[in-house]
Amino acid sequence: MNSDSIIQAEFSLSKDITYLNHAAVAPWPNRTTKAINDFAIENNIYGATYYPKWNETETQLRTNLAALINAENSDDIALVKNTSEALSMVAYGINWQPYDNIVTSDEEFPSNRIVWQSLADKQVTLNEVKLTGDNPEDALIAACNPHTRLLAISSTQYSSGINLDLVRLGKFCKQRNILFCVDAIQTIGALQFDVQAIQADFAMADGHKWMLAPEGLALFYCNENIRPQLKLNEFGWHMTEDMYNFSSKQWQVARSARRFECGSPNMLAIHGLNASISLLLEIGMDKVESLLKQRTEYLFELLNNNKNILVHTPQQQNRYAGITTFSHKTKSNNELFDYLWSKNIICALRGNGIRFSPHFYTKMDSLKEAVNYI
Ligand SMILES: Cc1ncc(COP(=O)(O)O)c(C=O)c1O
Repeated sequence: MNSDSIIQAEFSLSKDITYLNHAAVAPWPNRTTKAINDFAIENNIYGATYYPKWNETETQLRTNLAALINAENSDDIALVKNTSEALSMVAYGINWQPYDNIVTSDEEFPSNRIVWQSLADKQVTLNEVKLTGDNPEDALIAACNPHTRLLAISSTQYSSGINLDLVRLGKFCKQRNILFCVDAIQTIGALQFDVQAIQADFAMADGHKWMLAPEGLALFYCNENIRPQLKLNEFGWHMTEDMYNFSSKQWQVARSARRFECGSPNMLAIHGLNASISLLLEIGMDKVESLLKQRTEYLFELLNNNKNILVHTPQQQNRYAGITTFSHKTKSNNELFDYLWSKNIICALRGNGIRFSPHFYTKMDSLKEAVNYI
């Protein structure tokens, strides 16, 4: 099947709505809905009789996620609850020293700010930098000093939609021995993402946005070299090396990133996420990225043609992903947002504007219709 027929076969969104909210919570593809349904029915009829088969799905998911982000090894991937939990594992795993500081931007989603602010009692400070100009990485780099232990940044900002040059930031961090932590929830599944190319120490993303999967299951990439340095704060049977050896009183922490998973896995969401990732991999992330960028560029064109609209998302090449945020010169954001929802244009109110976030399969005509309402 070519990508057009896969797209046709996989999405069943109601014709009554125009769904431009993938940066919040995405609809599931048909195969994901089927995987979840099948899993529910299997549980209903057979309980966990076929648990070994579920374990195979879990293993396949780690392999698929490793492929999606080009991780060195599927052992580098932990399956955790959400992005915030993964960020907390980093924040409470690092052996902070008084006067250490963390550099971030001043437009992060609360999950990538609050957790760092919570370290204040360890005398760790947070420096929130404004992302301005053509090269906003300059400001982040300039804010780092010899006490900087970590650069924590979103690859794509949830509100402005700006996309950062992670290769440059990762290279700088390596040169300066600064840990590099990337909140990638607004990028993975939207654009190609390569943890090796960007030299990330940590990257995390929940599945319910661009990866088109259920809420409550996130990937947490933790580079093998850093793993032993992160203190663990959650303990249980599942994070040990020999996890099925229930009777032994001796145990060791798993070498793999499974060490971050203290207890039973979220098998329901594992089945859903695996199905969704298989779709992305089948289409190919290069194709997904190019289709999505076409849609973002078309939105830019439509919005730029309306003199009453101010587009806030940067429009230079490589500075955008799937998020387009804008406001109206005479209508308030709230007024416009309510009006768009009354017309079944499903979008979000974020930062200083309205956020549209289509995905690769969104029909171009739907974008035109949505913009016509503004
Ligand atoms: C950039 C960013 N980080 C984190 C989150 C929250 O993720 P989670 O609910 O998986 O913790 C969001 C949600 O919108 C987000 O946009």
